[in-house]
Amino acid sequence: MSFINAMQERYTTKVYDETKKIDPKHIEELKESLRLSPSSINSQPWKFTFVSDQDIKEKLSKVSWINTEKVTKSDTVVVFSRVDDLSLFEEQIKRELPQGMVDYYNENLKPLPKEQITSWFDKQVYLSVGVLLSACAVMGIDATPMEGIEPANYDKIIGNDGYATLVAVAIGYRDEEDFNQPSKNPKSRIALDKVVETI
Ligand SMILES: Cc1cc2nc3c(=O)[nH]c(=O)nc-3n(C[C@H](O)[C@H](O)[C@H](O)COP(=O)(O)O)c2cc1C
Repeated sequence: MSFINAMQERYTTKVYDETKKIDPKHIEELKESLRLSPSSINSQPWKFTFVSDQDIKEKLSKVSWINTEKVTKSDTVVVFSRVDDLSLFEEQIKRELPQGMVDYYNENLKPLPKEQITSWFDKQVYLSVGVLLSACAVMGIDATPMEGIEPANYDKIIGNDGYATLVAVAIGYRDEEDFNQPSKNPKSRIALDKVVETI
């Protein structure tokens, strides 16, 4: 499928068919796609937790507001976390990045208040959400990005140490009757000439 077709066909899945499971090979491909996500100075201030265990999904579903059934009936919930412990992050970049990148961080980001540094981390993590949604679209896997979750409770359930949950994405296969699929609920977007300009 071409990328544009994948973008036309993908949608936020509201009802999953719990009997349909994602091939483990495809789960591995999604994990690797996330690992390859780009980030500013290659900072990679993230962790991706794949939850397919039904008991843990049940626990997450109870702290997922309107998303309860998407969490229980999808195949897997991918939890996107950012580094919350700055010393952990500084050790990571020292170990993983060339000195020039570490110098950039030390000069431009380290002097800022913690919330500004973590807000910069958040932007990097959100890029990887886009990567996962796009990868799913191309692979014909249905997905639901979910900000409607309780991040602090997610942290407790998945045992996030040094990291903070930001957002989650449920993945699986739609119920054939899902009211939100494009054939039943056509895509709604602002006109191209209002959001894109060429100068
Ligand atoms: C970061 C983010 C968070 C979202 N959170 C939720 C959510 O908690 N529950 C939900 O059903 N949809 C959620 N959505 C889906 C959006 O409402 C949806 O992407 C938008 O209406 C466009 O529709 P489409 O994805 O079907 O093309 C979220 C989307 C994004 C990108």
